[in-house]
Amino acid sequence: MIDFKTKITEELGKVVDIDKKELESYIEIPKDTKNGDYSFPCFKLAKELKKAPPVIANEIKEKISLEGTGIEKVEVVGGFLNFFVDKEILAKEVLNEVASKEEYGRAKIGEGRNIVIDYSAPNIAKPFHIGHLRSTVIGGALSNIYKFLGYNVTGINHIGDYGTQFGKLIEGYKLWGDEYDIDKNPIDELTKIYIRINNLCKEDEKVLEACRDNFKKLEEGDPYCTELWEKFKAVSLKEFQRVYDMLGSKFESWNGEAFYSDKMPEVIELLEKSGKLVESQGAKIVDLTDVGIDTPCIIIKSNGSSTYATRDLAAILYRARTYDFEKALYVTSYEQVLHFKQVFATAKYLGLDEKYIKGLKHVPFGMVLLPTGKMSTREGTSIKLEDLLNEAIERAKEVIEQKNPDLEDKDETAKKVGVGAVIFNDLSNNRVKDEVFDWDTILNFQGETGPYIQYTYVRIKSVLDKAGEIPNVKDVNVEKLADKYSQEILKLIYNFENILVQVTEKEEPSILSRYLIDLAKAYSSFYNENKIMVDDKEVKDARVYLSYAAAKVLKEGTKLLGMEMPNKM
Ligand code: ARG
Repeated sequence: MIDFKTKITEELGKVVDIDKKELESYIEIPKDTKNGDYSFPCFKLAKELKKAPPVIANEIKEKISLEGTGIEKVEVVGGFLNFFVDKEILAKEVLNEVASKEEYGRAKIGEGRNIVIDYSAPNIAKPFHIGHLRSTVIGGALSNIYKFLGYNVTGINHIGDYGTQFGKLIEGYKLWGDEYDIDKNPIDELTKIYIRINNLCKEDEKVLEACRDNFKKLEEGDPYCTELWEKFKAVSLKEFQRVYDMLGSKFESWNGEAFYSDKMPEVIELLEKSGKLVESQGAKIVDLTDVGIDTPCIIIKSNGSSTYATRDLAAILYRARTYDFEKALYVTSYEQVLHFKQVFATAKYLGLDEKYIKGLKHVPFGMVLLPTGKMSTREGTSIKLEDLLNEAIERAKEVIEQKNPDLEDKDETAKKVGVGAVIFNDLSNNRVKDEVFDWDTILNFQGETGPYIQYTYVRIKSVLDKAGEIPNVKDVNVEKLADKYSQEILKLIYNFENILVQVTEKEEPSILSRYLIDLAKAYSSFYNENKIMVDDKEVKDARVYLSYAAAKVLKEGTKLLGMEMPNKM
């Protein structure tokens, strides 16, 4: 496709003596289409050229050539040059591109560039909660989008499978294992054992001692303790897998915290060598006050055990060496902002190449709130993820039952709509914002929701069915797509790849979600204003083809978010 922005930059570069990169960075996309499709403000040039912005704008307009740029006209408004894309060229470019690509928007920008995404990461023997859902959904969308742009992505599920709590679980299991059916209900039963043994530990110092001993044995590779730990891990993962199957999540690596147990001594050695590791109240810490972080990074606790941070440091070493990453993203709730600040600051002392340190990036997200307030395990308002997804499917099924009782594959569709609604809700706002989880809002077919996009797609599908065949793109008369509703859709489709790039610049999948809402809305307006099945074959074919293109992008975009499209609903 013609890159209009680059074309404009090139032409501007011929008449003003300023670096092209800089020129390009000035170009804006006006909010109001009255001001064109691209706008070049001359204010920043005014200083350098010692002329008033409108004067500069007029001079450039006189000198500039639009030939071969796809721009039909340029207008001066005050200190702005407003460029208008040729409507027919836009339509031709977009529709040809849609026709020629199996996957519209797939790109190679990321070729040869390695991205590591650490996401999901639930903890063994603990519930997979709604925060892990957000991480799974945001990380999954980022992974899909980076891959689509050609990056080499390693998605890592940094499972929480390490820590002193396993010493306790082992002891509890030893004592009462046969009372609990952990194969059937792993997480629930293991949680019960954990609560019970924890209570006993509070009463009986000797039990606590035994638990500590178990953990030590586990670290030393004791066969019995290892076997139990592996069992807890296997049954937990099996339960997590049910959620991943519902969400369609896949990871390239499942190296969890325990994977780094034999890689921590090197971290300690390196930090010691850097001179930064100091003793403090029996613990070994790295003081970070000189980089503006008040709380130190604890590497070895006073009882001699390593920490969550130590394992993250070992993981940084391992990932830098194994994946040679350009960026390593960590998708967790903003509750871990301090943790990652400390870890990234401490990582500077591991002696790694500076480029790896620069590539470390925490991608925090907000809390999920119920309309009644914060979810909490203690008050029993925390929802188990599997139950939540099942409820979403049930509720979607009720809506479908009302709207379209004769639909075939109701169950399949309800799954796509219910799960899609939950996923989209998680991705629809700026990720750091807290999100209110309200069933009526997320499943509203009329709102800015996943089901709304699916519904729009299904509507287009039925238009295409009615039309019979999709015309050949060569036979589409683009003159018939000059109206503002068609043009709005074309502009959005044109911008798809650019949207994906923006997502990767800000690690913000909501940019794509908002875009898909805009596209669905633009299609709805087009559909309401333009009759498609008209007698004039040229008009009909053009509108059918545009509908086909819009459907293709809606499907591609939602797939990148991790949703599935129903064909009917
Ligand atoms: N298991 C952790 C939790 O549930 C998240 C792990 C995030 N990744 C990391 N490398 N620290 O909070």
